[in-house]
Amino acid sequence: MITAVYPGSFDPVTYGHLDIIQRSVEIFDKVIIGVLNNQTKTPLFDFEERVEMLQTVTQDFPNVEVVTFQGLLIDFTKKMHANVIVRGIRAVSDFEYELMMAQTNKQLCPEVETMLFATSAEYSFLSSSTVRELAYFQGDITPFVPDYVKEKIYSKMKEKRK
Ligand code: PNS
Repeated sequence: MITAVYPGSFDPVTYGHLDIIQRSVEIFDKVIIGVLNNQTKTPLFDFEERVEMLQTVTQDFPNVEVVTFQGLLIDFTKKMHANVIVRGIRAVSDFEYELMMAQTNKQLCPEVETMLFATSAEYSFLSSSTVRELAYFQGDITPFVPDYVKEKIYSKMKEKRK
């Protein structure tokens, strides 16, 4: 049985993330979406909100679980008894960081393999931070996030603008 961890901040989840999740569930027996709860950062959505959005938009995948983690990704991966870490690469600019992470994690735990997925071309420019910025200035984010997430972002931004 191959269990993969797909880690990230998911602040918020976008169609780019969903593309990776959709492809991962076809390959691995189980996919655990690891939501980083980083106490040194102030995300737009707290970790409960990010988990709730992810659970909603992945509810049709029977082999997906959404779990939060703190600390090192490799410790979380071992705790979940996962064999693989999945990450998406949008462009060459992502590569350096992802390679460093993959090699560091390999050094820390040689049994865990990192697999880098080439993001589908239509999402190669997409990031959560772009979506946040567009939403803040009331831009249309319909092509980038599911409707459920879109409503959550707009109402969060409305609060922020008050
Ligand atoms: O969505 P992001 O912000 O690109 O995800 C980055 C994430 C969460 C995968 C990365 O920051 C991470 O793994 N953080 C946990 C701390 C850790 O393990 N750091 C060492 C990585 S070599």
